[in-house]
Amino acid sequence: MKRPILSPTLAANEKVIALRATGRKVYHMGFGQAPFPVHPRLHKALCDNAHQQQYLGVAGLPELCEAVLSHQAALTGLNPDDYDVIVGPGSKLILYALQMAIPGDIMLPVPSWVSYAPQAGLLGQHVIDVPTVSVDNTLQLTAENLEKAWHKAKGNGLNPTKLLINFPGNPTGISITDSDLQAITEFCRSQAITLISDEIYGRLSFDGQYRSASTHFPEGAVVTTGLSKHLSLGGWRLGVGIVPKAIDGLHQSLIQIASETWSCVSTPVQFAAIEAYALHTDVEEFIDNSRQIHKIVNTHIADSLRCMGFDCPTPTGAFYTWPDLANKPNAAPARFKNSQQLADHLLDDYGIVSLPGDAFGEQPSNLRLRLSGCDYDGALALSTLKTYGADKLLANIDEFAPSVSGALQQFEKFSQHR
Ligand SMILES: Cc1ncc(COP(=O)(O)O)c(C=O)c1O
Repeated sequence: MKRPILSPTLAANEKVIALRATGRKVYHMGFGQAPFPVHPRLHKALCDNAHQQQYLGVAGLPELCEAVLSHQAALTGLNPDDYDVIVGPGSKLILYALQMAIPGDIMLPVPSWVSYAPQAGLLGQHVIDVPTVSVDNTLQLTAENLEKAWHKAKGNGLNPTKLLINFPGNPTGISITDSDLQAITEFCRSQAITLISDEIYGRLSFDGQYRSASTHFPEGAVVTTGLSKHLSLGGWRLGVGIVPKAIDGLHQSLIQIASETWSCVSTPVQFAAIEAYALHTDVEEFIDNSRQIHKIVNTHIADSLRCMGFDCPTPTGAFYTWPDLANKPNAAPARFKNSQQLADHLLDDYGIVSLPGDAFGEQPSNLRLRLSGCDYDGALALSTLKTYGADKLLANIDEFAPSVSGALQQFEKFSQHR
């Protein structure tokens, strides 16, 4: 299959920049960029370290690696002595390095984030789909489906050695239940499967609970995370991998890959990131406030789409919704053969930028879209929350998030079109 040159999320963003440059009004729901400003403490730390020009060690600044482990220990109770850390230029490259370092084929839930399968493709590895199941209007990966997919892959002569999961999930905006996580990790343990747990949205679970695969599978789950989502610092490009020492040689392989590719992450950013992991009260409060705003905005998007008659699971974390636009009785969607056609139509006729479900491995004929609910003025949202409180935030959405309410009005028009 011919692979697109740009990852779909980045392609959507570039399209929006080009359209806006021509003066076209667009509602950007295609890109998962958290909107809040740089926290002043982190801003200062970066400025204070701008003079640091030296390369750092390949694994990462030792003080930062220690801070990452203490932070993770405080959140999940893991024992820092059992893990090594690697710091990378975003968790995306660590995920790629992990796929490269762990031989064999990868099992991926359907749907899952746009870059996992293309990364496997770049490495010439097979992707084994694991269907999710709909439970109470949420999509869940279950141990039962995992086991079935694993047996089928074995039967087809593949070598399923690794599973990559992500929760709260992009594209679904849904987290995993503790019991599913427990059962999945038990299966991984029983078959010596390495679990890669992408926890980049872990601190944005709407119930405020950070769940980690490492709690259930301390010796076999590699956790990736970073600063991009809960601290809105995607452009700082700092991600981390937390690697169990029990997985023989994996940390060393990652260091080898890093040493031949990115060498080390920007030195000022690594120094500043220590502050991001120190659990300072003001930074924690900023994360809590951001989480509340994501919850209110994205729950509102899901509720509104359901009111229009579409099927849309209520998100439980991150900043995405995953509506199925085929579900509205009498509506136009019958005209669309696949989710790409639907996404093109929404852009051409309504100015809504979305990502088609098939970019996430969904059957093209399913008219699912991934919507990002984060194109708004984050500073204004934070000050609105402070002034009016969470209960009144939604009443002010037109002021701080006109593009979100504008997009919903466009969806309303689309839903009325026969
Ligand atoms: C599910 C998921 N994993 C990983 C990443 C990569 O994040 P970063 O490379 O900025 O750490 C993203 C970014 O959109 C994501 O949505």
